[in-house]
Amino acid sequence: MIFYDDKEKCFHIKTKNTSYVIGILKDKYLLQMYYGKKIKNYVNYIENCPVGNSYSWAGKDIEECGHIKDVNDIPFEYPCYGSPDLREPAFHAQYENGSAITDFEYQGYKIYEGKLKLAGLPCSYTETEDDAETLEIYLKDQVTGLEAVLSYTAFYDFDVITKNVKVKNGGTEKINIKRIMSSTVYLFGDGFELLHLEGNWGKERNIQRRKIINGEMSIDSKYGGSSHGHSPFIAMARSNADENNGEVYAQTLVYSGNHKTQIEATSQNVIRVNSGLNDFGFNWLLESGEDFQTPETILVYTDNGFGGMSRIFHRFIRTRITRGKHRDAVRPILLNNWEATYYDFDENRIVEIAKKAKDAGVELFVLDDGWFGDTPNKKYCFGDWKVDKNKLPYGIEGIAQKVTDMGLGFGLWFEPEAISEDSELFKAHPDWCIEVDGRKRSLVGAGGMRRLLDYSRKDVCDYIVETLSNILKSAPISYIKWDMNISMTEIGSYGLPPERQQELPHRYMLGLYDVLERITTAFPDVLYEGCASGGGRFDAGMMHYFQQYWTSDCTDAIQRLYIQYGTSMFLPASAMSAHVAACPNHQNGRTTPLETRANVAMTGQFGYEFDLNTLSDEDFEETKKHICLYKEIRETVNFGELYRLKSPFDSNNSVVEYVSDKKVVVMRCTILGEILSKRYNIKLKGLEPDAKYMDNESKIVYDGDYLMNVGLNFFNSRDFESQMIVFDKV
Ligand code: DGJ
Repeated sequence: MIFYDDKEKCFHIKTKNTSYVIGILKDKYLLQMYYGKKIKNYVNYIENCPVGNSYSWAGKDIEECGHIKDVNDIPFEYPCYGSPDLREPAFHAQYENGSAITDFEYQGYKIYEGKLKLAGLPCSYTETEDDAETLEIYLKDQVTGLEAVLSYTAFYDFDVITKNVKVKNGGTEKINIKRIMSSTVYLFGDGFELLHLEGNWGKERNIQRRKIINGEMSIDSKYGGSSHGHSPFIAMARSNADENNGEVYAQTLVYSGNHKTQIEATSQNVIRVNSGLNDFGFNWLLESGEDFQTPETILVYTDNGFGGMSRIFHRFIRTRITRGKHRDAVRPILLNNWEATYYDFDENRIVEIAKKAKDAGVELFVLDDGWFGDTPNKKYCFGDWKVDKNKLPYGIEGIAQKVTDMGLGFGLWFEPEAISEDSELFKAHPDWCIEVDGRKRSLVGAGGMRRLLDYSRKDVCDYIVETLSNILKSAPISYIKWDMNISMTEIGSYGLPPERQQELPHRYMLGLYDVLERITTAFPDVLYEGCASGGGRFDAGMMHYFQQYWTSDCTDAIQRLYIQYGTSMFLPASAMSAHVAACPNHQNGRTTPLETRANVAMTGQFGYEFDLNTLSDEDFEETKKHICLYKEIRETVNFGELYRLKSPFDSNNSVVEYVSDKKVVVMRCTILGEILSKRYNIKLKGLEPDAKYMDNESKIVYDGDYLMNVGLNFFNSRDFESQMIVFDKV
């Protein structure tokens, strides 16, 4: 998978279909020579360099360059500030004498089987001995003694390369790290386009595609979480790339906090892409002997278009990032009471809702927000996590027992990162809150009454682990929804000295990851679902702890077509929770057919968000059928391969297909009906041409090549009309 070519002086990292080559120049500088479709050998790299006129530099020392034009297209593997290369660096630090020059020189390397964990951070892992191989390249700045380790892991069968960087202060001086990126990648040539995912609360992950023009642009988050605004994911594609064909270079960070991806294109047709922690409001003091680990970046290259890219991410995130007993298991169909009751419930009401859900075939009941605190006094008391006995006189234990006695699993909602000023916790520990003394504190986030606990403090993390553990031990709880509804604003920590205040956003994430690691390890049988006002922190980092995620607070089926389509760019259906909600929809007032609400939700982790007692008898019978259908198809949707056949972003339909060894599931939905609608044709993908596939409803048997070449025709007859077509491979 990885070898060092002594003759050519380069490292060659190979996966099944890709190659990544790093050259060593003058025994000192590392250059990224090639990343793309697999090649056998990389030869003659200096003369055949990927960049143009300035490669005269290749034979010189950097200090002989004389002018920026000599180096502004050189693909330095890990560019640092403090050289004639004045593009955006991946690394920027300030030293005790005030200077900001770093000059990392090559020292050596090591190649080994497997992959090490990243201390304190979520990361990919291997499962078998020959899953992956790792290359570590060692660098050193001779003046300050700062050392760096660049790590590359090749997951051969997955066609994935992961990268991360670790620095160690090997000198005696203090160092202030101002920017430390996880990865730098180069694209050579023009005509590249950028695809990224932007959004907001209730409308997460809209696909944006635009030409990369000379200059700089960045995709980032300053929210404290990876955010609804910009996912830590980008794809750069040739302009002719589409869903099925064409070259795509994509990457996502395994990180859930402030992130940044910078894209800088020069007139030399070289595009540099740095990705990692956001350097906005960031500074990290590295004392002598201390080290700093960056998050991991997952790199994917394919020439099979965006569809090929997504299938690689899905397989990798599902099986080499996500962990836990439920990783490979089909998940229970759940009913969550949030939109059914909001805060207005008591035990009888919950029992009534749960009973009806059980009758319909639901497998798990989830009690959402509002179960704690003291409702008559309107005190929600985030942080105390004491049950509201006015609503639940027998506590969580009592309601959990009643629900499990019905034969349903019982799940519970928490927002463990929140604290309210009303709480006993706040009275005892006012310094556990994120704030700056003497400054106003905006209550930013849903509900407004909560503030953010300071997870950079070990005492806070210990308290949360203990409090949650006691509740989990006290009752038969088989599922947790871990919510987080607050943006980090006006931030400050009472636990950090002034010179470390700008470390808070990253230290917060390290504390959160530590808490999640401890809880998920202590309670391995629990199914964990993440949430952040819907999909506000839905990223590969969180998928290391949670098996699924509440994709969005918008439960309208039509808006969900866009949200789920965009999310599927890098996150798998097994991770995407999707529920049937009441109509008119609570977020946008739209009324859609029950069948469409069910069909759209069935393309993710299926569930309900309303009281089934409110259904007519006829709709209740239909609901039972939907639940039976999902039980039949869920394995294919969760673990099959996704083919996106029609995009709601550029057509009047959304059509997605899931293919497993046994079944093919196609969900098609019309957005707006048309009078005298013309046919639209759908050609299936990923089937075996010679195999036979039987339509479960019509019982017609098709050949695979028929479905892939002739395809099926449909009409846009009515607004919001949809269909789930299931084929059994016979
Ligand atoms: C935001 C979540 O996204 C909702 O599903 C719900 O759990 C509310 N929080 C409860 O406050």
